[in-house]
Amino acid sequence: MWKDIEAAPPDAIFGLTEAFKKDESPDKINLGAGVYKNEQGITPIFACVKDAERILLGREQTKSYLPISGDPGYGICVQNLLFGADSEIVTGGRAATAHAPGGTGALRMGAELLKRFRPAATVWLSGPTWANHRAIFSAPGFAINTYPYYDAATRQLAADDLLSCLATIPAGDIVVLHGCCHNPSGVDLDTAQWEQVFAISTERGWLPLIDFAYQGFADGIEADRTAIELCARTGGDFFVASSFSKNFGLYNERTGALTIVCSSKEETAVAMSHLKATIRACYSTPPAHGGLVVKTILEEPNLRGSWEQELTLMRERIAATRTALVEGLAAHGVKEDYRFIANQRGMFSFSGLDEQAVAWLREEKSIYIVGGGRINVAGLSSANIDYFCAAMAEAINR
Ligand code: LMR
Repeated sequence: MWKDIEAAPPDAIFGLTEAFKKDESPDKINLGAGVYKNEQGITPIFACVKDAERILLGREQTKSYLPISGDPGYGICVQNLLFGADSEIVTGGRAATAHAPGGTGALRMGAELLKRFRPAATVWLSGPTWANHRAIFSAPGFAINTYPYYDAATRQLAADDLLSCLATIPAGDIVVLHGCCHNPSGVDLDTAQWEQVFAISTERGWLPLIDFAYQGFADGIEADRTAIELCARTGGDFFVASSFSKNFGLYNERTGALTIVCSSKEETAVAMSHLKATIRACYSTPPAHGGLVVKTILEEPNLRGSWEQELTLMRERIAATRTALVEGLAAHGVKEDYRFIANQRGMFSFSGLDEQAVAWLREEKSIYIVGGGRINVAGLSSANIDYFCAAMAEAINR
């Protein structure tokens, strides 16, 4: 069967992890996949996750199926995290939430569902965007287009171009927005810019789909939901794909959620019925463990406090690493101003390294960076940052 079939190319992000594992250099550094590492270079299990797991192990009575949309308490926790418990969306029953296997699963379920009811829509992605977005929305057959987002010359948001493009997108199309910590650029909209975006979405009638994978990594759990809150205020329909891979460290438990916000409680019930039908035809019902861990942490005040503390420490470590990176590059003789790295948010930094430099760093220095020059800042620590800054300086000055 496979004799005449060409192999698929390695994944743009996880392909790097595979290559990294085979690399025998003692200096090798993996700054590819968005996975948090601590000062010891380890991706730790949160203490609150371990505690929640102990509680769950003692309590568990059955491995019978969860409902198609997942544990109902988990759905409530997700909505409270997204909108706040007293938001009108929550109290008015205007949101349908289903557990999905990770943020990718949430996006894909959203895409499958939307393809049924908006078959002719175009899906608009930011230029640039997360490498997997195109594949996820192409899979059900959507046409894809790009809206301007990042200006490589100024290393800032291309705000004017972004807003003018959004104002041309027709009613019914779907616009994928990054809720915070834009992946890959680390450049976010400010509150006034988000207000403009949602004024345009309301006027034009396109559907916002907010990819929300880094809540807590920019300014804080509540501070990071500005985009969601402003979108909620429009009173219109929108989708949110949540991921708890990063902010609970539950990468391999595939813990995410798709939330569909509707304009009435009645419409929400209709949306949920179709979401369930979509999930049933795809993976039937979700895995239990990650969702129950998140629910246990969010429902138990001590565990929640511990979670918030640990997330704050992660956010602070990344911010300090950004500063150390800017200083390290200057110390290694880079003349250009790299202070923009310190202003970017979340795990990633768009380094400005071109494809040649990315390839050179991999071949000569065993440093693995995603094509386009995205660096996972959370993969640097005091043990490897000097080696990295020296190599990056050499790549820039070559
Ligand atoms: C990333 O962007 O590196 C992460 O979201 C991991 C992934 O699934 O690609």
